[in-house]
Amino acid sequence: MPGLIVVGSQWGDEGKGKVVDVFSSQSDLVVRYQGGANAGHTLVVDGKKTVLHLIPSGILHEQVTCMIAAGVVLDIVTLCEEIRALKVNGLLKNPKQLLISDSCTVLLPYHRRLDLAREKALGNEKIGTTGRGIGPAYEERASRKAIVFGDLFGPKDVLKQKLEAALKEKNFLLESYYKEEPFKVEDLIKVIDECAEELKDYRSKDTSLGIHKALRSGKKVLFEGAQGSLLDLLHGTYPYVTSSSTLAGSALVGSGVGPSQNLDVVGITKAYTTRVGSGPFPTECTDEVGEELRKKGHEFGATTGRERRCGWLDLVALKYAIRVNGITSLALMKLDVLSGFDEIKVCTAYELDGQEITEYPVSPGELARCKPKYVTQKGWKEDLTQARSLKDLPRYAQDYVQFLSSSLATPIDVISIGPGRDQTLWIRPLFS
Ligand code: GDP
Ligand code: IMO
Ligand code: MG
Repeated sequence: MPGLIVVGSQWGDEGKGKVVDVFSSQSDLVVRYQGGANAGHTLVVDGKKTVLHLIPSGILHEQVTCMIAAGVVLDIVTLCEEIRALKVNGLLKNPKQLLISDSCTVLLPYHRRLDLAREKALGNEKIGTTGRGIGPAYEERASRKAIVFGDLFGPKDVLKQKLEAALKEKNFLLESYYKEEPFKVEDLIKVIDECAEELKDYRSKDTSLGIHKALRSGKKVLFEGAQGSLLDLLHGTYPYVTSSSTLAGSALVGSGVGPSQNLDVVGITKAYTTRVGSGPFPTECTDEVGEELRKKGHEFGATTGRERRCGWLDLVALKYAIRVNGITSLALMKLDVLSGFDEIKVCTAYELDGQEITEYPVSPGELARCKPKYVTQKGWKEDLTQARSLKDLPRYAQDYVQFLSSSLATPIDVISIGPGRDQTLWIRPLFS
């Protein structure tokens, strides 16, 4: 299979960055296709940590071409900072390593300010967004008024007109409704010009064409999802979701590739569950178990530093994610974090209004009323982080993996037992 979609199967932060970095050693192209700088993808190489928000997680591999496709909302200020940080570390020496679509929606500082102002106005009802301007930027795209990356290199007067039109509306909202500071066109033009100068070498115009050619010639293409399935705008825990489609189908739409491509879908799955921000989370543990998972798993946001809410694995939600994404195999992440628990609980059904259900409920308010029904698996004490093959894992850890793959009727092809590249156990070779 020349193409692989890497998608988060929970509420994000499953370890997509690590998987894409590890898979990149066998890939030619890595494409980010949705989301924006709300993502925080962590790569750890020889103990050194790199957190990426917009740049695809293949960037540490010189032979890999990284693309930012049309579906991404491109925070040009953050992107310039990210590029500079990589260069300081001796990376991204060749500009050909990073290609940006002319069709990306440009995310500007006023999107961020609007996002924050809205959250503040919502008070206790807030979504708990990352404050990165994602919602306002996608709204602007849908309203057909967005500035796109290609505009940065077109006639100056056209860009200025678009910005003036956008600010007329946004400043009205900011000043009159939210009582926040407005933006000046001249200030933003200056920011845009500086960014355009820094980013011009990465302009690719049509990344869809590049991906098409790569797939046609048998090159190995990874599509790197951001966020997670349950944060999907249509199929997630609405309204506590992000503003893009986070499902595998979005890889096609966001990068401009047709559905007749034969692509595998790897669902990146934490061995337990976390969530950042508001919204229902049936298996959340607000007791010492949640605290222990957070501590052992270092569950603090890579983008905002917020504490992640933690709980046991939820197979009802996971089966739903497998279905709506068409997941063909799973990568089971952070299994090492479960070492030391006497018992490990796994949610296999919910109780909803006195009835047992095994299908994830999509109707408004229902998930929040669901109580998890657990089966209990035996825990293990051994440290897993030094294991180098499945048979090195203690018996109960192997049993846990076996239980998950048979309950989910989906193969687990990769098991991750630490943040490092070599802490990855391959059950089935990649691109097989
Ligand atoms: P992403 O958003 O899906 O890329 O995930 P994040 O980078 O936000 O969060 C995953 C965190 O877990 C990062 O700090 C990773 O370095 C770390 N990580 C990834 N895989 C493993 C693993 O198998 N074990 C442990 N202990 N940490 C891991
Ligand atoms: P990665 O790619 C975890 C969550 C926010 C909030 C909701 C909406 O690192 O897995 P937004 O800023 O997108 O409007 O916030 O979505 N969220 C994430 N949670 N990981 C992410 O990305 C997330 N990106 C957004 O916490 O609940
Ligand atoms: Mg993350």
